[in-house]
Amino acid sequence: MITLNVNGVDHELDIDPSMPLLYALRNHLQLNAAKYGCGVGQCGACTVMLDKEAVFSCLVPVSAVGKRAVRTVEGLGTAENPGPLQQAFIEEQAAQCGYCIAGMIMRAQALLDRRPDASEEEIREHMQPNLCRCGTQTRILAAIVQASKSMTASAQGGGK
Ligand code: FES
Repeated sequence: MITLNVNGVDHELDIDPSMPLLYALRNHLQLNAAKYGCGVGQCGACTVMLDKEAVFSCLVPVSAVGKRAVRTVEGLGTAENPGPLQQAFIEEQAAQCGYCIAGMIMRAQALLDRRPDASEEEIREHMQPNLCRCGTQTRILAAIVQASKSMTASAQGGGK
């Protein structure tokens, strides 16, 4: 039995310990936001957070997760009540096909949790492992910058 804590909830799963975390999320927990792109750590479509770190869930066997908290984009908000990053991605219309977006948001979340006031250059650098084949990187970057500004403003008590 493998226990995974995902978005604050413990799940006991009777699965092969070598199963990639991505498969456990999608096939056993019906958390389908993280996507299978390349399967070899080259695209970032599968990005989720393990504690404070963004990881490629296609490369992490469930046995390696241990007690670390798994966070997926489903844990950041809902369609009715999106989190700040999700809201910024909607406002900037940052998705084209949308395949990369959950991974993009989770990689950005890992940075903004640590550095809500990250500079545009830091954001660019941090987001490099995640690819968008539609070419919406400019809008994705704008969304993250917008979320960073709104998080920093609300931390200072001046949020909208
Ligand atoms: Fe994991 Fe591409 S599917 S990095």
